[in-house]
Amino acid sequence: MIVLGIETSCDETAVAIAADDRTLLADLVLSQLEDHRPYGGIVPEVAARAHLQHLPGLIERALGAAKARAGIGLDDIDGIAATGGPGLIGGVMVGMMMAKAMAAARGLPFLAINHLEGHALSARLIEDLPFPYLLLLVSGGHCQLLAVEGVGRYRRYGTTIDDAVGEAFDKAAKMLGLGYPGGPPIERAAATGDARRFELPRPMVGRPGCDFSFSGLKTALRHALAGIGRDAHTIGEQDRADLAAGFQAAVADALADRTSRALDRFVDEFGSPTTLVVAGGVAANQAVRTRLTRTAERAGFRFLAPPPRLCTDNAAMIAWAGIERLRLGLTDDLAFAARPRWPLDPDAPPAIGAGVKA
Ligand code: KG4
Ligand code: ZN
Repeated sequence: MIVLGIETSCDETAVAIAADDRTLLADLVLSQLEDHRPYGGIVPEVAARAHLQHLPGLIERALGAAKARAGIGLDDIDGIAATGGPGLIGGVMVGMMMAKAMAAARGLPFLAINHLEGHALSARLIEDLPFPYLLLLVSGGHCQLLAVEGVGRYRRYGTTIDDAVGEAFDKAAKMLGLGYPGGPPIERAAATGDARRFELPRPMVGRPGCDFSFSGLKTALRHALAGIGRDAHTIGEQDRADLAAGFQAAVADALADRTSRALDRFVDEFGSPTTLVVAGGVAANQAVRTRLTRTAERAGFRFLAPPPRLCTDNAAMIAWAGIERLRLGLTDDLAFAARPRWPLDPDAPPAIGAGVKA
């Protein structure tokens, strides 16, 4: 079984072709980072236009790659999948229209994939990982803990009540005069910093439940900066390193605390530890990974982080989720409408102020 997948829900235009034996026949990601950099964040209209501009060429290149690699052409494809939400609606519509048109023209099944399900199932593209497992999804747009019980079966244990964790890294970086996206430069600056010089709060730590919050930490960072009489323009190297290290340590502690609670709840509900999967751009952070590896091991879980390329937004995970759904006959109607919000767990209570993050 071979599925072509399209991802356009944020600022990456991506196309992949995956087979059910876990082979990736094509896996292309075009980042729009340069288009958005002048604005210090993602502009939805700029993103939608860029998707529209780049998608046809990218699909052609993906088909070319599959042909060169395995002699696979459009005739060999069994289904077309696209992210149907949640995300920036203009971009989602561009990707879905393209997928629907291809499906209609070729008489193929169409699959509207929940972007979060793409992340949730991506670990199964790496290996034959059995259900259930616990997923910590930490990116610029999401910050969630999910029990993954099966395809289409998710239970949300926690989510952020304000910012996503990647967003917090991005805002902190801006405050410290570092570039966008903020995670990588904060990690680099933190390497030479003293995490104990500034006392920053560990948001939510010790509280019941598994929800996250990062806005208080952001405010504390701003106060710490003001406390030494500095701002983004006047900050010195060592101050920046110490603040970055302090911020990163606080985030790692907060993630570890929330995850540890979720691991306990998982064992209560499923009877025994299995695997903790971490995905999303923030999973690239070494301090975060080290901390979570220890958290998982202490609770008797295996720690699994897909390679960075599969952790950040990509179309391989959309094609793979398409395969998982197509195998079960879970195809979608061409009338499926793009969804700006689309929680994986419809029973989960909405988090206060969780914005567009579902
Ligand atoms: O998954 P992703 O590529 O895109 C989505 O947001 O869906 O995640 C991007 C986020 C950004 O906020 C970026 O600052 C953060 O992941 N990030 C990191 C690191 N690399 C990327 N955060 C902390 N440390 C890193 N090394
Ligand atoms: Zn994502």
